[in-house]
Amino acid sequence: MLSKKDLDYFNHGSIENKKFWKRLGEKPDFENKSILDFGCGHGALCIDIAKSGAGLVTGIDLSKSLLKFAKENLSSNFNSLSEKIVFEEKDLLKDHFNETFDIIVTKDTFEHSLNLPEILNKFYDLLNDNGKVYIGFGPLYNSFNGDHGRTQLKLPWMHVILSEERIVNRYNKNNSDKIKRIEDLGLSKYSLKDYKRIFKESKFEIDYFITNQSDHPFGKILNIFSKINFLKEYFTYNIYCILKKSRI
Ligand SMILES: C[S@@+](CC[C@H](N)C(=O)[O-])C[C@H]1O[C@@H](n2cnc3c(N)ncnc32)[C@H](O)[C@@H]1O
Repeated sequence: MLSKKDLDYFNHGSIENKKFWKRLGEKPDFENKSILDFGCGHGALCIDIAKSGAGLVTGIDLSKSLLKFAKENLSSNFNSLSEKIVFEEKDLLKDHFNETFDIIVTKDTFEHSLNLPEILNKFYDLLNDNGKVYIGFGPLYNSFNGDHGRTQLKLPWMHVILSEERIVNRYNKNNSDKIKRIEDLGLSKYSLKDYKRIFKESKFEIDYFITNQSDHPFGKILNIFSKINFLKEYFTYNIYCILKKSRI
């Protein structure tokens, strides 16, 4: 039985997908292509891509419960797409893939992903020549809500202002699950500068890179401050990027 909470999240994802493609310039041509969605979650983006004519969409995730929802939702509500989508419990870095892909997509996962250079190397190996990776994510760690509320500090940017030791001690005092470092809360802590460097140092060509995409009025205020050089790191909240694997 699909829970209302999961269905609401899935339906919200379907709305967010339109923004995702708009922020990446446009929706790519998926016709008959093979696609990997890294961190597919509830599966909304996989369904959107399969509806756009993809040959086969593989959604991978680590979460058993999200994959259970994604599979049940596919068979109950999108059965006509069942032949075109596979949801698999797979760790991108640890598990083996028998296939390669024309396009890799990843939405709202890179802000949680440690080992980003290794992830990009794996993407490179999994992509066919001239394949592309479509990436969109946020909030970035140094932005006002970059801790996703997980440090349980109430004020914006407090997770950036306070020392890690203080944040960890405070968290451990108030919670039964104990952490040793902020990364244990599922946050990668990469800065805007780190992401730019990692993309640049990867084997990919950067085809498109844009930040601070939002239609929210508050986003527009943050954009103004992000134009000031020494504030850029703290007022940049998301990244949309396309990486290309050129034929060698
Ligand atoms: C915040 S969710 C985003 C889900 C979905 N893309 C969305 O936009 O709603 C990030 C997902 O990435 C998955 N993930 C993180 N690291 C992964 C890995 N190494 N291999 C596969 N999935 C991973 C997590 O399990 C999590 O469900």
